[in-house]
Amino acid sequence: MKVLVVGAGGREHALVRSLMRSPQKPEVLAAPGNAGIARDRVECLGVPAEDVGGIVGAALERGIDLVVVGPEAPLVSGLVDALEEAGVRAFGPSREAARLEGSKRYAKELMAEVGVPTGDYAVLGSREEALEAIGRAAYPTVLKADALAAGKGVVICADHASAKDAVEMFFTERRFGHTEVVLEEFLEGEELSLLAVCDGERAVPMAPARDYKRIEDGDRGPNTGGMGSYSPVGGIHREHAEALALAVHQPIVDELRRRGTPYHGVLYAGLMMTADGPKVLEYNCRFGDPETQAVLPRLRSDLLALIEGAVRPGGLSEVSVEWSDEWAVTVVLASAGYPETSSEGDEIRGLRSIDSLEVELLHAATAERGSRLVTDGGRVLSVTGIGATSEEARERAYSAADRIQFDGKQMRTDIAARAMIDVKA
Ligand code: AMP
Ligand code: GLY
Repeated sequence: MKVLVVGAGGREHALVRSLMRSPQKPEVLAAPGNAGIARDRVECLGVPAEDVGGIVGAALERGIDLVVVGPEAPLVSGLVDALEEAGVRAFGPSREAARLEGSKRYAKELMAEVGVPTGDYAVLGSREEALEAIGRAAYPTVLKADALAAGKGVVICADHASAKDAVEMFFTERRFGHTEVVLEEFLEGEELSLLAVCDGERAVPMAPARDYKRIEDGDRGPNTGGMGSYSPVGGIHREHAEALALAVHQPIVDELRRRGTPYHGVLYAGLMMTADGPKVLEYNCRFGDPETQAVLPRLRSDLLALIEGAVRPGGLSEVSVEWSDEWAVTVVLASAGYPETSSEGDEIRGLRSIDSLEVELLHAATAERGSRLVTDGGRVLSVTGIGATSEEARERAYSAADRIQFDGKQMRTDIAARAMIDVKA
């Protein structure tokens, strides 16, 4: 079987590695992939993930049996619909179902309709409406652009002055284009990422994970795509994850099925574990990055069987999913300037010195320059340590991360320092 993984990041490298471990021994290709995926001797096709027509053409030309889509942008643009029309099986939601991530307003309205717990909100269509709303809001408050913004369209406003600045950014500067803005109640608690694989009928939770969105230790500094992750999460037992999936994933799957736009693929719930119970911060329509790098190494059963099950209506009832009891801790190494900018061309050294360590090294933004490997974007590499305890996994991840060097390397030193969530009620 020929499987094409679409995307170019660490998440896609993790997907490629996991598919290569499948007992079905698929031939794995990537589009466009990255230098690390190519180092795994996986053929990388020169088509960007966002090029819907190009991906469909490449899949047909190369006789691909199954396409696994990593990033949200092609899902929201309808890549899965286009592949299916061309007769190619694809893992991921349709354009309509992917609106759950593409529009915060749509997600909020759907949650309200089916009774999924989430923060109170209001949709703001103009600067005047927004100014009026922030005048009445309780602080801190949260403003979000109603568009895909790679995690950067969310502003937590401590007071009215910073909310005013955010309103000007959204409505005057139009930093995120001509979008509406969602004003949302600020939720307090610890965050949890719970991804579920969905087959149009049922949502099967994956192992819980936690990611670290801020650039600096202690959750300070600007939001990033994610600086590290770990799985499982202390305090969240299997029964707990299953109950959460029934409360926050299954009602969405049921409603979209009822509407005739069934949800196939990964439905990722970003949750805040508040004193009043879990509440959904957002849905994503895909695997998380870097959660996937910590979750997939713990999957004991076949990822390919899971993906194939999800593509068929109700197909997951025939698939068993097993997780190891081990811990996985992922540390991201980012380049100078990230997240505002990023660096290219800085030589990466020390990779050979980690060969003997029990870690999974995954590439995200690297490039080959002759015999050298160099940085080629913001999040450059990640290392995942596996261990019997979170401490062991963490120590392994950091002993490798410390040995990898490049100019301007940024990494958090507190990933999984406390690998636990205090669950209230
Ligand atoms: P989102 O892209 O909607 O998940 O937002 C990005 C990050 O902003 C989340 O992971 C949270 O850390 C934070 N955030 C978003 N919405 C809220 C909220 N209502 N209350 C508190 N923090 C939030
Ligand atoms: N780790 C957050 C995300 O994938 O959106």
